[in-house]
Amino acid sequence: MSTTVGLIVGSLRKGSFTKAVAEQTAALLPEGYVVKQINIGDLDLYNQDLDDENRAPESWKKFRADVQSVDAVIFATPEYNRSVPGVLKNAIDVGSRPYGASVWDKKPAIILSVSPGAISGFGANHHLRQSLVFLNMPVVQQPEVYLGNVTNILDDNLKITSEGTLKFLQSAMDAFVDLIQRFKD
Ligand code: FNR
Repeated sequence: MSTTVGLIVGSLRKGSFTKAVAEQTAALLPEGYVVKQINIGDLDLYNQDLDDENRAPESWKKFRADVQSVDAVIFATPEYNRSVPGVLKNAIDVGSRPYGASVWDKKPAIILSVSPGAISGFGANHHLRQSLVFLNMPVVQQPEVYLGNVTNILDDNLKITSEGTLKFLQSAMDAFVDLIQRFKD
C-alpha cells in the first residue's frame, strides 16, 4: 500500500525557489510514496464566523479534505519579515478549525525553510514549528532543514546542482520516512 505525502509550499510565486527545492526534495522519497501538492493560493481568508452553521467556503472544505486524505505533510516555506508568509499561516488556521476538528492532528510533518539570504529562513522555520507543536503534529527534529543562500545551489532552471545539498536533503527525507513509519497505525 502506498503512503501519500502532501506538499504545501508557502510561496505563490511562479519562479519560487522554495517550490523548486520542495519538489526536488519530495522526489527523493522512496518507492511507494506518492506526493500530492496541496494548493493554498485560492483559500478564502479564515474567519471564525464561518465555522458556525456550516458556512465554510468551498475552498476551505476542499483544502480540509485534501489534508485529511494524506498520511503526512511536507511544509516548505520562504521567510517573510522573519516569519511565515500570510498565505501559509492562513492555510494552517483554516485546517485547524472548527475547534476539535483539526485536520492536522497527529499527522507527521517536516519543515523546510528556504531563503536567498544567509539566515536561511530561521524565523519562518521556528514560527512554523511552534504552530505545529500546538497542532499536535509530530515533526522531524533532526535534521533541521534550513536552506540559505539558495541561489548558490540552483541553476538557471532551478535544479539543485550541489551534490552535498542533495545528500543532505536525502537524509532529511529518510528521517521523515522513519517518522511516518513510527506513527503508522
Ligand atoms: C522577503 N524576503 C525575506 N527573506 C528572508 O530571508 N527573510 C525575510 O524576513 C524576508 N522578508 C521578506 C518579506 C517579503 C514580503 C518578501 C516578498 C520577501 C526575501 C525572500 O526570501 C525572497 O523573495 C524569496 O525568493 C521568496 O521565496 P520564493 O518565492 O523564491 O520561494
